[in-house]
Amino acid sequence: MPDVPRRSRSRRRHRAHPHGATHAPSAENTQPWVFVVVRDDERRAKLGALARSLWDRGGRAYASAHVDSHTLSAIDESMALNFGGAPVLIVVGADLGGGVHPSTVAASVFPAVQNLLLAAAALGYGSALTTITTVMTEELRAIVELPDTIEALAVIPLGRPARPLGPPRRQPAASKTHRERFGTAW
Ligand SMILES: Cc1cc2nc3c(=O)[nH]c(=O)nc-3n(C[C@H](O)[C@H](O)[C@H](O)COP(=O)(O)O)c2cc1C
Repeated sequence: MPDVPRRSRSRRRHRAHPHGATHAPSAENTQPWVFVVVRDDERRAKLGALARSLWDRGGRAYASAHVDSHTLSAIDESMALNFGGAPVLIVVGADLGGGVHPSTVAASVFPAVQNLLLAAAALGYGSALTTITTVMTEELRAIVELPDTIEALAVIPLGRPARPLGPPRRQPAASKTHRERFGTAW
């Protein structure tokens, strides 16, 4: 496995740009992903305000019960700086009008999102997958004028990293992997 996933961290403070990711798999090759690349100050401010209001009005209280203080303060900082000051916000949507089966919508969009995150990391850009704004999905849709047939699934801030991050903190792969049947250690 190449080293790129180790460099794909949730970057919540930024300096610059985006990249493509549409070679991903999708159910029946329906390719339902939609990316709205937002650079405009006014729309970025609206997206930031939506995220911040959700964070302030319950998101933080919910997260603080189980999220470590390091992550919590990183998100606080990001919220205060309008998605960490990212110059580009990518709103990710799913086009429900193109024949994708409802059971595979997310599974058919997030591989492309992961490609985008990995490409960003490989090119030295910072990114983060965020979904908090999808809690108020109608407000999110209105900001980027998504038609009714497109479901908003995530917002990805992209930019030049403001500071280096360490490797991702993850449980060992072996603790998540089973041999032949569930319950047999790897
Ligand atoms: C489905 C999903 C939703 C997420 N939503 C948010 C979010 O709304 N805001 C945020 O700052 N980070 C969000 N994250 C990023 C996670 O908090 C992050 O991946 C996790 O804390 C591990 O940190 P790391 O990626 O820096 O290693 C989300 C990640 C996933 C997979």
